[in-house]
Amino acid sequence: MKQKTPATKFFGLIMIMAFFSLILTGCQEPPKTEMVKTVQIPEGEIDPTAWGKAYPIEYDLWKKTEQPLPAGKSKYKKGFDADHITYDKLSEFPYMALLYNGWGFGIGYNEPRGHAFMVRDQLEIDSSRVKSGGACLTCKTPYFNKLERELGEGYYKGDYKAVVDKIPEHNRNLGVACIDCHNSKDMSLQLSREITLGKAMKAMNVDRSQITRQDMRSLVCAQCHVTYIMARDKDMKVTEVFFPWKEGKWPKISVEDIIKVIRSSESHNEWKQAVTGFKVGYIRHPEFELYAYDSIHYKAGVSCADCHMPYTKVGTSKVSDHRVASPLKSDLKACSQCHAEGPEWLREQVFNIQDRTVSMMIRSGYANATTAKLFEKVHNVQKEGKTIDMELYNQAKDYYLEGFYRTVFVGAENSIGFHNPPEAIRILGDSVAFAMKAESLLRQALTKAGVEVPIKVDLELMKYVDERGKDKVKFKPEQEFKDPFNLQVKF
Ligand code: HEC
Ligand code: HEC
Ligand code: HEC
Ligand code: HEC
Repeated sequence: MKQKTPATKFFGLIMIMAFFSLILTGCQEPPKTEMVKTVQIPEGEIDPTAWGKAYPIEYDLWKKTEQPLPAGKSKYKKGFDADHITYDKLSEFPYMALLYNGWGFGIGYNEPRGHAFMVRDQLEIDSSRVKSGGACLTCKTPYFNKLERELGEGYYKGDYKAVVDKIPEHNRNLGVACIDCHNSKDMSLQLSREITLGKAMKAMNVDRSQITRQDMRSLVCAQCHVTYIMARDKDMKVTEVFFPWKEGKWPKISVEDIIKVIRSSESHNEWKQAVTGFKVGYIRHPEFELYAYDSIHYKAGVSCADCHMPYTKVGTSKVSDHRVASPLKSDLKACSQCHAEGPEWLREQVFNIQDRTVSMMIRSGYANATTAKLFEKVHNVQKEGKTIDMELYNQAKDYYLEGFYRTVFVGAENSIGFHNPPEAIRILGDSVAFAMKAESLLRQALTKAGVEVPIKVDLELMKYVDERGKDKVKFKPEQEFKDPFNLQVKF
């Protein structure tokens, strides 16, 4: 047997200490808020004001998600700050404007903000993103179950505005509501998205009876903070919304599993990438997938709510903070239930992780953008009548799609790597490798066709960042993130 070195002994000790500190602190008893006794919440009640009469403290905190958060506390997630500036991913990461040109995300791609805004943002800001019809509401309004039941196919294929009009007017702007996460009888946590999350878990043979309360503190979020596919028919009308998880093994769903499902059917291609002309799919906010893929915190039994809804004192009551937000914006109070280090130290850890992720993300983004521009060049010379070696071309396309989906995955995940730092870096490293491989194959194909390729491919970035649709969302150079390690990104 191998002798234990002092280092492994020390590590073991740390792990034991961490374990006990978790038992002592992480799994605190839930706070007990007294229900205002005389108030009964009718079964199936969607309107949160009725719930608010019974639980005024949680209701008030929940309402606060419509207020801007303090500016300057988070480096990468400024969202909608106290100065009422809305941050835009396409200005923060201009390569995205090139890669996503061809559909809504290439025109407007705002950083997320408070829960109160989810429907409002679709209606007012990101209207370009609701072309898919009523199906867009699945993750937004608590009325979706009712709408889906009543409208059937019309819910998926119907015009977005027409479906929204079926929501009672006073609640048309309502985002995630109490009924999305709670059972009104005893306030226990409950899933409402059986048509998406429920189905996905069933397909993966998850034994629902084994799910603990701590699991539920993450699963209520996994109803929406996950990726999904809007499958299309040949007229590009949405037929179904589902999670591409079936290649995974609960709760581990890797980026490879997701890409496999996306690439398994033409019906999963949701848009046409303008620069390459390829029909492709998309990966959206995969917070749960990245987090549950063996991150340190997930393995330690930490839930989404531990960090995003920590217990907080309001008057004499101790409640879960229903003003769901970035833990940086409340000075990392959520972390201190387990970590003894002060907020400055913790903030530095988060920024270090995010800086590394952003550095790799920028590199993978530009590597994929370069390859995309070379495809454009190939298509142009084909139009001029030159012959391209299709074996090289097809191989390059295969690698390109692999690289592209990986950079999309990390770019859409909302923690900038914090939820699972080594996994985010692994994915981005692979993305760079795939993109570069595709680039070299395209260079070979072009050279073979007698076309000279410059060492540095001109991305024509300004064309993509400053000409976004007819709404003309302007590029905001002051929002752009440069590589935090000052690497000169030259592609
Ligand atoms: C019904 C779907 C839904 C559920 C359930 C849900 N979210 Fe969200 N969440 C969203 C959407 C949509 C946004 C973006 C809103 C916008 O920008 O308009 C968002 C935004 C956020 C933000 C950013 C807030 C900000 O101020 O920038 C955080 C943090 C967050 N969610 C965490 C969670 C956590 C943790 C849970 C589980 C306790 C959860 N969410 C449950 C849909 C949901
Ligand atoms: C995105 C999911 C989500 C939404 C929406 C939500 N809650 Fe909660 N709520 C939670 C979680 C998670 C807990 C912690 C439960 C636990 O640990 O068992 C909680 C706990 C509670 C509790 C128990 C006491 C406490 O504070 O921990 C009450 C009461 C409550 N919520 C009321 C409400 C009311 C009222 C609304 C609507 C205005 C609401 N919740 C909306 C997720 C949600
Ligand atoms: C160990 C703590 C921790 C856990 C557990 C955790 N998060 Fe986070 N989350 C963070 C931090 C830190 C950030 C980065 C915030 C920032 O940069 O401002 C973040 C960012 C986010 C954001 C973007 C916030 C914004 O303001 O735009 C969302 C959404 C989110 N997390 C959802 C989730 C979901 C869903 C889960 C569970 C699957 C989860 N988180 C688990 C700590 C955590
Ligand atoms: C419920 C308990 C719990 C909460 C809440 C929690 N952590 Fe942790 N954290 C742990 C445990 C357990 C470990 C692994 C053992 C260790 O290294 O201390 C860990 C490890 C870490 C690490 C090192 C590993 C890595 O992923 O890089 C960092 C950094 C960290 N936590 C930051 C945070 C921050 C920031 C927050 C708040 C946003 C937070 N944690 C919230 C329990 C928690």
